[in-house]
Amino acid sequence: MEILHVSAECYPVAKVGGLADVVGALPKYQCLAGHMAKVVMPAYNTRFFHTHEFELVHQGGTWLGHDWYHVNIWRETTNVLGFDLYLLDIPGLLDKDGVYGHHNDMQRFLAFQVAVLDWLNEWQHQPDVVHCHDHHTGLVPFMMSHSYKYERLRNIATVFTIHNAQYQGQFGWDQLYLLPGFDLWKAGLLGWDGAINPMAAAIKCAWRFTTVSPNYMQELFTSANGLEALMNYEKGKAAGILNGIDTNVWNPATDPMLPAAYDEHTFVKGKRENKEQLCEEFDLDPELPLISFIGRLVADKGADLLPEIIGRSIYEQKQQLNFILLGSGDPHVEWSLQQTKLYTGKNFNLQFGYNEALSHRIYAGSDFLLMPSRVEPCGLNQMYALRYGTVPIVRSVGGLKDTVTDFGDPGGSGIRFIHAATWDACLAVGRAVQLYHDTARFQDIREHGMQLDNSWDNSAAAYLQLYSSIIVR
Ligand code: ADP
Ligand code: GLC
Repeated sequence: MEILHVSAECYPVAKVGGLADVVGALPKYQCLAGHMAKVVMPAYNTRFFHTHEFELVHQGGTWLGHDWYHVNIWRETTNVLGFDLYLLDIPGLLDKDGVYGHHNDMQRFLAFQVAVLDWLNEWQHQPDVVHCHDHHTGLVPFMMSHSYKYERLRNIATVFTIHNAQYQGQFGWDQLYLLPGFDLWKAGLLGWDGAINPMAAAIKCAWRFTTVSPNYMQELFTSANGLEALMNYEKGKAAGILNGIDTNVWNPATDPMLPAAYDEHTFVKGKRENKEQLCEEFDLDPELPLISFIGRLVADKGADLLPEIIGRSIYEQKQQLNFILLGSGDPHVEWSLQQTKLYTGKNFNLQFGYNEALSHRIYAGSDFLLMPSRVEPCGLNQMYALRYGTVPIVRSVGGLKDTVTDFGDPGGSGIRFIHAATWDACLAVGRAVQLYHDTARFQDIREHGMQLDNSWDNSAAAYLQLYSSIIVR
């Protein structure tokens, strides 16, 4: 089977969050299973693009309304990622620093999608499936089914994965003319709630759509940021497939970013060494239990609760507990965290910004990882934590519910709490501190967590099964 993944992110080329990790891993596992998976993404101005070998495989151009843009597509030639990677370059539009947050993101990602389809239109043979990820690629299924230009592509199955339904990419109907021509009476397929909505369009037009965990799919039927009715209407095409993790990249026994390597037999000593170095770096006492947070500082992640959770827990635990935070996002949250640090300085340290290597060191050197998310479609951090012998403390929501069982239940290797509220998170932190002091049990639970299989093997197979059920041969 041949699969073309279309995405705005892919690790290690360009990463903002978990989408990149998924698109950097799933195709690799699909190739290992004997299929041909490829990824096409924008050629941002990234280090990866400048430091790897590429060949030019396509040159053309694309119209975006009245504007004409040159398009170059580059293929990475050393297969360093384990699958064919194509970077689509539109000079003046996509070749910017950073993935999102430009004033013309709508035009950038629309041009990207149109250019991908123009290129695909020229392929001699065609892939069996085009798999699109999140709203930046959500107009692809509509265009493949309805634009006059892409009639050749009608029989290629389309799958759309919702990584996060909070972001739907809406824009005004006045921009409709930017899309390649189609019968105007079909315009309703593009819209939802008074705007063109790429995520809604994908749910309507893709042959199948998926979410990144089964529980998140269930949640979306009742709470989907305005898309609930549509989700229920299109239920017959829906599947919840849990993300996996790339166990080659995320392996404490071989991770080159760690000061000390370890596995499930040597983790007590190995984690201790990592913790000592981490605590030295962050000026914290390594004898105390260490709880960390890594992620985007936004309300969906419960980041606004963190200053109070951290301040109150340190007080409740009589300063016998440390926190480390790595992340960036909402300036108000960042300011509150700085304030919290002023009065908890001995027990709390933080670094704002994005730092891949430091994130690995934190997963390895921490005792617990806190995720007080309000919304969590899947979440990868908790699976990385488990793999690194770090006990996740998670709110019971979305994919966190599918991947973390409370240690009070059979087979449990994490700590769960119900409410997105400081008091409940602090109770969970209290349970963590108690567990930390029950050395034998703490060791058992960490060992069990490290042994869990969250690799992509099962989930990659589930996607392949889904494709097989719809492709036209
Ligand atoms: P989301 O995609 O919603 O941000 P996920 O849990 O799916 O959440 O994935 C987050 C990914 O981004 C993980 O690989 C995590 O380690 C990484 N990450 C998040 N924030 C940072 C940061 N500040 N520095 C380094 N890595 C980060
Ligand atoms: C999104 C979600 C996150 C998920 C990731 C990868 O960014 O917020 O929960 O793990 O996509 O699918």
